[in-house]
Parts: sequence; C-alpha cells; structure tokens
Amino acid sequence: MLRFLSLEMVRVTEAAAIAAARLMGRGDKEAADAAAVEAMRAEFRHVDIDGRVVIGEGEIDEAPMLYIGERVGSGAPNLPQVDIAVDPLEGTTITAAGGPNALACLAIGGRDSMLHAPDTYMSKIAAGPECKGALDLRLSATENLGRVAECKRMPISELTVCILDRPRHDDLVAEVRRTGARIRLIRDGDVSAALASAISASPVDVLIGIGGAPEGVLAAAALRGLDGEMQGQLRFRSQADRERAIRMGLEDPDRIFGLTDLAGGDDVIFAATGVTDGDFLKGVRFTGDGARSHSVVMRSHTGTVRYITAFHDFGRKRDFPLHLEDD
Ligand code: FBP
Repeated sequence: MLRFLSLEMVRVTEAAAIAAARLMGRGDKEAADAAAVEAMRAEFRHVDIDGRVVIGEGEIDEAPMLYIGERVGSGAPNLPQVDIAVDPLEGTTITAAGGPNALACLAIGGRDSMLHAPDTYMSKIAAGPECKGALDLRLSATENLGRVAECKRMPISELTVCILDRPRHDDLVAEVRRTGARIRLIRDGDVSAALASAISASPVDVLIGIGGAPEGVLAAAALRGLDGEMQGQLRFRSQADRERAIRMGLEDPDRIFGLTDLAGGDDVIFAATGVTDGDFLKGVRFTGDGARSHSVVMRSHTGTVRYITAFHDFGRKRDFPLHLEDD
C-alpha cells in the first residue's frame, strides 16, 4: 500500500466528521449520516486511487452513495487498485444526541483483502496485543475473560469489559457480572470500543458481544494497525441474510473469522476522525473561522499510529467539507 495514502485517508474522514458534527444534537440521525456520506464521497474524488467500496452504506438499490461496489477515486489512469470499507458516521444515534465516541472512519487495503461482510450482525471479541492468540469465540465469555485477565496479568475483577447495551446481551451481561469483571455498557459505537480495547491508555480492556458486521471489519482493520486481537462470527437476522452472504461469496457463513480473515493483506490503512468527544479522539470543535479536528491513522505494515490535529480555515476553504473544487 502506498504510504502517502494515510494522509489522504485522513482528509476523507476529516471531511465526513466535520459535516456530521455540524448536525450534532439535532435529533436527526439520518441527516447527520447523509451529510457525512456526501462529504466523504466528495473528498474521495480528490484521491488518486482506483477504489472499490466493499463495505459501504448498503447495496446499490438501498444507498445512493458509497454503496457496495461503487468505484471511488479521482478517475485518473493507472492508479493503485484498492478495496475500501467505509463508515462515514459510526454512531448516528450518538451524534443525533451529542453523546460520546461518534467517529467517521474507513479502511483501505489491497483487492480482496477485506471480508465482504453483508449488512447483518457479527458476534465479536476484541482485545489488545497482549491477548494475541488467546481469544476464542467457541469458548464462553467466562473462559475468554479468564484468558484476557491472565494475558494482561490482572485479576478479572479489574478488567473493564465493554458490551453494547441491548436486550440480546442480557444473558451475556449476567454471565460477565458473575465473573466479577467491571462492565461498561455502551448505547452505540462498537468500532470505537474495539479500538479502545487495544489502546493501553483507554478505559476498555475487552469488547465482547454482537454488533454490526460491517463495523466488525472496520474494527479488525484498526486492530491490525494496533497489533490487537479479534475474532468475529456472522449472526444472521434471517434466512434471506444468510443466503445473501453466500451469494456475496462466503462459502461457510458460520465460520469463525480471525483478525486477518476480516482484514487481511500485507498492508491495511485505518483512519478515523472524532465527530463527538470520545475515549481517544476529541470531537470536532468549531472556532468561528473554521474547525479543529482530531484523527488517528495507522498502517498495519509498519504499526505506526499517528494522531493528527488539524485546523480547517473556512475562509480559505469555502466549500469545505464538501470540497467539490480543486485545491
Ligand atoms: P449507527 O452508526 O448506524 O448508529 O450504528 C452504531 C452501532 O452501535 C454500531 O457501533 C454497532 O455495531 C451497531 O450499531 C449495533 O447495531 P444495533 O443498534 O442494531 O444493535
């Protein structure tokens, strides 16, 4: 993967985050999402890639922009061919309420490097580098937490386990409580929680439970950069979902995917910009004359993790974040 693309990807997530952040707290998650999608797509036109969206806003008939299979990039000849996973606004409900941990994020890798995950659910477990090889979705939550505690050399009672606050997790929460571990229930945003599990200064040790499958692929791309660990298994809402997964090329839709099955290849770049304040990224701040954004970008090839604070001068970039004209 060409390393200059790291910064190009941050430009793309910055544009999406700023567009969504304008609508923070308005109670309209669709509008915030649409603004992020439009800004992200516009910014992609300035990037010299021959990109194919593999995780996007939905199938071509359900999403007008950034749909699965859409080609993005500048359209110049002989450009690097890449696959792209996007979540222009991860945490639409969070943004609508002005809550924590909403992100604009994306991942790029070589062709066929990322799982073509259908828009269904995924059972996930994710943790940091100490837990490499120790997570196993075939085991119970209790056994996995025992392993995480051992790898991190801490008592289970000091682990913080992040779980999406959903009725489907009632039994999981009860089980985790029986282990004595601490629990952080989140309303939304399990990409952010998966990343947090691999960032030592963050308040999460392990993410466990069922969330979106596309979000699972994005989280895996980030964990490649952070050298973390993750497993995922698709959970279908219906038989139609399962059949769609098979049509998308999954020979065994019930298999457990490891980190590199979800996001493989020599090099995967993951970029995210905070929309609202979160555990490791600050949200967008408007300053009257522009906006300040806070992003992270990482490459699995080198393991470099960069945090980028940027000031965007709206006086000079008048059409930003839609950015339809050339710089
Ligand atoms: P949105 O960005 O669409 O609001 O999704 C946020 C999210 O919480 C993800 O982080 C998570 O993977 C998924 O939704 C969980 O889905 P559900 O809300 O159906 O349980």
